[in-house]
Amino acid sequence: MNYKELSVQNYKRFCEFEGSDYIASEFAIESILKIIQKFDVKNILELGLGIGSISDSVLKYSKNENKKIEYFGTEQNDFCLNSLKKNVAYYEKLKIYSDLNKIENLKFDLIIIDGYDKNLNSIKNYCKKQTIIFIEGARKNQTEAILKIFPKSRYVNIITLKKNKPYAHGGSNTNHYIGGGQLIFIEPSFRMILFWFNQKVLTFIKNKIRIYKIK
Ligand SMILES: C[S@@+](CC[C@H](N)C(=O)[O-])C[C@H]1O[C@@H](n2cnc3c(N)ncnc32)[C@H](O)[C@@H]1O
Repeated sequence: MNYKELSVQNYKRFCEFEGSDYIASEFAIESILKIIQKFDVKNILELGLGIGSISDSVLKYSKNENKKIEYFGTEQNDFCLNSLKKNVAYYEKLKIYSDLNKIENLKFDLIIIDGYDKNLNSIKNYCKKQTIIFIEGARKNQTEAILKIFPKSRYVNIITLKKNKPYAHGGSNTNHYIGGGQLIFIEPSFRMILFWFNQKVLTFIKNKIRIYKIK
């Protein structure tokens, strides 16, 4: 199964779970797996593990591809902490902390932000030179905070032309586009700049198509 099929299948699976209202979108899961593949990501931090839709997808991808990926995450909510045990197939591989500042002496290739963390300002301490940051959905305040911390970063809002699935959580409107994400390269390599540029062009074109379809 390739990463696209895995994200479609796993998103659908998570939509059936209790508390699925806040899970990451299918497009976000697919984008994260694509980034992991493209940039050979080996260790990941997710702020806001929730009920585990992203972590479960990544750990399954890691198993399918026979690729070692270390997965760290933060979560405080008791319901979510219990759900992770039930929902995440390779739960024993998850390293869970209550919040960012409890993590010591670790730096990550990819940091996924899908929850509130009062210590977000210390994120720099967890970044390598070329860490990639992916913010699920719009999360305007967090995106602005990150861009302030990394003023020289390359940033793109990635979007899709796919619409919500009928089984999407909360009876989502199937006329609405699936939510996107904010992709930030804090100090990009040449390959990262090419990827970022490509995504910028894609977002520009997709926005034009969206506007054209409304008319
Ligand atoms: C957007 S959610 C994170 C979703 C997660 N990345 C996933 O895909 O499952 C952000 C935060 O909301 C809280 N949360 C998520 N689902 C919840 C639920 N069903 N009940 C209570 N809190 C929830 C958790 O603390 C979580 O960290």
